[in-house]
Amino acid sequence: MVSDMDVRVIEKKDIEQVCEIEKNCFSDAWSMTGIQESLAQNHTILLGAWLDGRLLGYVIAYLSIDDCEIARIAVDETCRRRGVAFKLLEEVKNVCLKRQVERIMLDVRDSNEAAVRLYNKFGFTQDGIRKNFYAKPAEDAVLMSFNIGK
Ligand SMILES: CC(C)(COP(=O)(O)OP(=O)(O)OC[C@H]1O[C@@H](n2cnc3c(N)ncnc32)[C@H](O)[C@@H]1OP(=O)(O)O)[C@@H](O)C(=O)NCCC(=O)NCCS
Repeated sequence: MVSDMDVRVIEKKDIEQVCEIEKNCFSDAWSMTGIQESLAQNHTILLGAWLDGRLLGYVIAYLSIDDCEIARIAVDETCRRRGVAFKLLEEVKNVCLKRQVERIMLDVRDSNEAAVRLYNKFGFTQDGIRKNFYAKPAEDAVLMSFNIGK
């Protein structure tokens, strides 16, 4: 557990560090422009976990009136299994509580055991499967959600 990490909103100056982790983690990595566009939208949650000025991981989520959708969550390969992603999910939940959002939703590749286990540990439950949802490579998505107690 990285006990002294700091979680704060990602700003424009942080985008390069986000892109670095993004391209190392995803076969369909978002471009710098795509991430910058997310930053500009006021319904987007962009949070990073930091230690001594270094970005360990980040989460990007979209808020609507009742729901929050996790679009991205990633942790630098060298910092995994230290509670960074779990902490980021807790912070998303806190934002949702403040905004009275009832549910967090996401989709995850069927084969992504680390992520599925993370979401299960957090309390997400499986809602269904969407066949061939992903490309590069083609794969089914597991749809999951977490109900936020009010
Ligand atoms: C999935 C991911 C975000 C997890 O980040 P992390 O910071 O390592 O996760 P945490 O340390 O908070 O793990 C919390 C729990 O999730 C589960 N978990 C996380 N990684 C796991 C792994 N590789 N194998 C099994 N369980 C795992 C465990 O239950 C873990 O608790 P424990 O360490 O006490 O057993 C990280 O592996 C990652 O960035 N993967 C690449 C990007 C990605 O796939 N993102 C998700 C897209 S939907």
